[in-house]
Amino acid sequence: MCGIIGVLGSHEAAPLMVEALKRLEYRGYDSAGIATVEGGRLDRRRAVGKLVNLGDLLVHQPLSGKAGIGHTRWATHGAPTEGNAHPHKARTVAVVHNGIIENFRELRAFLADNGIRHETDTDTETVALLAQHFRDEGMPPREAAMATVDRLTGAYALCFLFEDEPDLLIAARHGPPLAVGHGDGEVYVGSDAIALAPLTDRITYLQDGDCAFLTRGSVEIRDAHGTLANRAVRTVRPDATRVDKAGYKHFMAKEIAEQPVVLTGALGHYLNGDEIVLPELGIDFARVERMVMVACGTASYACHVAKYWFEQLAGLPVEVDVASEFRYREPPITPGTTALFVSQSGETADTLAALRYCAAQAAPIVSVVNVAESSIARESDLALPIFAGTEVGVASTKAFTCQLLTLALLALKAAHVRGRLSDAALAERIGELRALPGLVNQALGIEAECEAISRRLAEARDILFLGRGRMYPLALEGALKLKEISYIHAEAYASGELKHGPIALVDKTVPVIVMAPHDELFDKTVSNMQEVMARGGKVLLITDSAGAAAAGDGVWGLIHMPSVTPLLAPILYAVPAQLLAYHTAIAKGTDVDQPRNLAKSVTVE
Ligand code: F6R
Repeated sequence: MCGIIGVLGSHEAAPLMVEALKRLEYRGYDSAGIATVEGGRLDRRRAVGKLVNLGDLLVHQPLSGKAGIGHTRWATHGAPTEGNAHPHKARTVAVVHNGIIENFRELRAFLADNGIRHETDTDTETVALLAQHFRDEGMPPREAAMATVDRLTGAYALCFLFEDEPDLLIAARHGPPLAVGHGDGEVYVGSDAIALAPLTDRITYLQDGDCAFLTRGSVEIRDAHGTLANRAVRTVRPDATRVDKAGYKHFMAKEIAEQPVVLTGALGHYLNGDEIVLPELGIDFARVERMVMVACGTASYACHVAKYWFEQLAGLPVEVDVASEFRYREPPITPGTTALFVSQSGETADTLAALRYCAAQAAPIVSVVNVAESSIARESDLALPIFAGTEVGVASTKAFTCQLLTLALLALKAAHVRGRLSDAALAERIGELRALPGLVNQALGIEAECEAISRRLAEARDILFLGRGRMYPLALEGALKLKEISYIHAEAYASGELKHGPIALVDKTVPVIVMAPHDELFDKTVSNMQEVMARGGKVLLITDSAGAAAAGDGVWGLIHMPSVTPLLAPILYAVPAQLLAYHTAIAKGTDVDQPRNLAKSVTVE
């Protein structure tokens, strides 16, 4: 979604804000802008497209001032034009916003009745105009901002700047995350600690409903009831906010390559000899009767893989749903149900709403998150970090494999607690997991093969992915990754479903990517593959050496994976899914790290 920065400093704010916005650009990159106050004048610069365009504009039309707010946008209301870019400004008030103001039409009508006209299509301009309206009624800035926030419904992180108050920023959080940064005689606001990292490592995370009133010398935070709130100041570890490509061409390439390292780190956090050490479990898996797993996109595919593990290893029935469907279906949460949520950002609006629905039904809440301070983590009974480190590429890669590893560990723990896995069997499985980073490292060795075949895939208009059992969610992930960054239409099917309809799509122009380690279902997948080849389909088989030998001739392409046990296969086969998408996107010349229409953290529903 959008990224927000606010600075009350002793140096020129514009360069600091542009630097912070660079670090936030992964949240949205349709347009960007900044506003500052200098000499009693509130001024702004905005530009459509990537942040570099705003940088160019500032070279020709610099903006001075030591107090400012800035924004990088992922459009919700109104096209990505300069007029719709933030900061939005009424005469003496500027506002940046992440989220959606749901009652903005009603507020527009109210403002129109008071003779106030809008110039843009955005919900955010309404916020600025409303604040100006209250100022015109004689309210000081603080009261005007509060009166404005009181009138809003929806999800928002807001930061206000006032022309006549160069030592005041007001930040409000209702939904999307917002943090206050503490400097020496300076204070900052940011969508996350990553934005603020060059400025400070001392951060206070605002909680839902909080408003922060900031001057250079004071930080006052009030909760949703207006009561003074004492929120902790945390020191953020430098590695938690490091965002550089480390010599790689793209963040995505770096994040794919660092998987062996982050998986090793995650194993180190969760394993002690032959024991899986989870933070204060608080949930008795021996008593759990059923699990619901809810997430969006790639994270939901991690849940689909975990379903196999929890059902087969722990004997626990699991239902998986995407959050946007789950939250409005009002599904019954029966006693004995544990609800599990997977989210890289920990801020996905639909996933958070689904979590709150389950919490209201008194279900124990487990979450698997990458951002330990996120809303989803904070609202869970048990939050399991995945230790992937900051993921900047919009297409999720290392977070997916770390989510899978964490879910595998939880499933094994549950199986052990439920008496379905002996100590010896658990030790054996843990031994398998310890081999994972090495295997992923080996799997990364297929990059050249993937690159070569990707040049051919880049010519396709449609691509199908097939997988069976635990490989079916990997086929879904492969298709999602490919369409996300290469813009090639791709669909995934459970191999056995092909002949129930989708096989009609197969002809010599449609590559069919089959993800099939040589496991107990391999022969069945080969039959499905033969059905494709018999209709002229071009099969790209991703398998191990036993699979390659058993598959026979006639495939269009072959990618050779290391041999792997069934437990690890879905984690390992994420690597070719990622590499094929990456290299196909490179062959097509698309923007790998910031693909069109997408944003990293989806804080609106
Ligand atoms: C795809 C991707 C998305 C996210 C989804 C959920 O590459 O990254 O599908 O998985 O938007 O986001 P989180 O995990 O932050 O809840």
